Amino acid sequence: MDIQVFTDRRARLLKAMGRGIAVIPTAPERVRNRDSHYPYRHDSYFYYLSGFAEPEACVVLVAGDAPRSLLFCREKDAEREVWDGFRHGPAAAREAFRFDEAFPIGSLDAILAELLAGQPVLHYSMGHDTDWDDRLVAALNSVRANVRNGARAPAEIRDVRVELDEMRLIKDAYEIADMRRAAAISAAAHCRAMRAAAPGRFEYEIEAELMHEFRRCGAQAPAYAPIVAGGANACILHYVGNSQSLRDGDLLLIDAGCEVDSYAADITRTFPVNGKFSPAQRDVYELVLAAQRAAIAEIAPGKPWDAPHEAAVRVLAQGMLDLKLLSGSLDGVVESGAYRRFYMHRTGHWLGMDVHDAGEYKIGGAWRPLTPGMTLTVEPGCYIRAAADVPRALWNIGVRIEDNALVTTGGCEILTDAAPISIDDIEALMAQRG
Ligand code: GLY
Ligand code: MN
Ligand code: MN
Repeated sequence: MDIQVFTDRRARLLKAMGRGIAVIPTAPERVRNRDSHYPYRHDSYFYYLSGFAEPEACVVLVAGDAPRSLLFCREKDAEREVWDGFRHGPAAAREAFRFDEAFPIGSLDAILAELLAGQPVLHYSMGHDTDWDDRLVAALNSVRANVRNGARAPAEIRDVRVELDEMRLIKDAYEIADMRRAAAISAAAHCRAMRAAAPGRFEYEIEAELMHEFRRCGAQAPAYAPIVAGGANACILHYVGNSQSLRDGDLLLIDAGCEVDSYAADITRTFPVNGKFSPAQRDVYELVLAAQRAAIAEIAPGKPWDAPHEAAVRVLAQGMLDLKLLSGSLDGVVESGAYRRFYMHRTGHWLGMDVHDAGEYKIGGAWRPLTPGMTLTVEPGCYIRAAADVPRALWNIGVRIEDNALVTTGGCEILTDAAPISIDDIEALMAQRG
């Protein structure tokens, strides 16, 4: 990504702040056990403003007539670099990431206490990370301890995420390019999974195919723990055990997407393990697909956030009546929420650096209107557990279909449409298996 994008974002935030100082730390490294760590993932807000992926770093912005943008990061360390690899160090980081100034992270506390003095507002995400909260409180208190020398600590703390969330909600061309790559790789991984599935194979084998395609294509990581759920497991919304064998006659639900240069894709496809939908599976699949089409038709500038969900719910509820899962009238089952027994989640969420991305869904109590540059998922589903009052042929059928949409001036663009979605296309792809 062009480094200018990050300097422009800092300039935008500085302008929006008006006055005061912003402190935006990156994420801590997390221990898995003893001296083994989880794979490191930077904080999304920090990276959005810096493009800097090393741990132990913090952006500090000082607004005003002469705005300043500071980076604190690890120092060069020849010994540690032998073990852990390259570190920029402040001088090279300042140059490469175009900060006005850069300092060793070890000097942050002292410099912060100086920078906070006299500032009217501290822009910071209080409550996000308690270690950083303690650090900020200590810096504020050290300014307050100096009050008799005329020092004054910020009287106000504002959540810096409010402004950043609004910025992150509308994706720029660079972000959309990354999301297209994440979408394309994730769609290819779903195709690979469809080709690999067969009765007797294990869910984890299919998970391995997804991971293989992600990494083979250059994605850094899965964007979230993949769900590979055969048969009844598809009715467990967050099933991530991926440990069971796949059975002839069952469906397989896969919810998996990768992260490319910090941007996520989030795709779900549901298909038959043996390559052919049964009549009952077909009925439920076509219903969910119709709900998804109805939802996508509601994604356009000016439409409220909830319009796709409302459209999907009406289609699904009517289908549940037709399939004898529910009884009564359409308005009745929508108003009572009876449909939630089989469709208990919402139809989408913002998507971006985080799979459930930053951004408010309501403004002043009303669902916010969709705007070009927003990216969201469209993911209706229908999950039918075995129960005495449910038609036997539908037991344990769980279907979700999830795509990623970019709001455009004319409506929306589906970023993930390279993953087969129609019954004919899925069966044709699976028929090519060896
Ligand atoms: N994969 C997480 C979700 O669909 O929201
Ligand atoms: Mn999703
Ligand atoms: Mn998903």
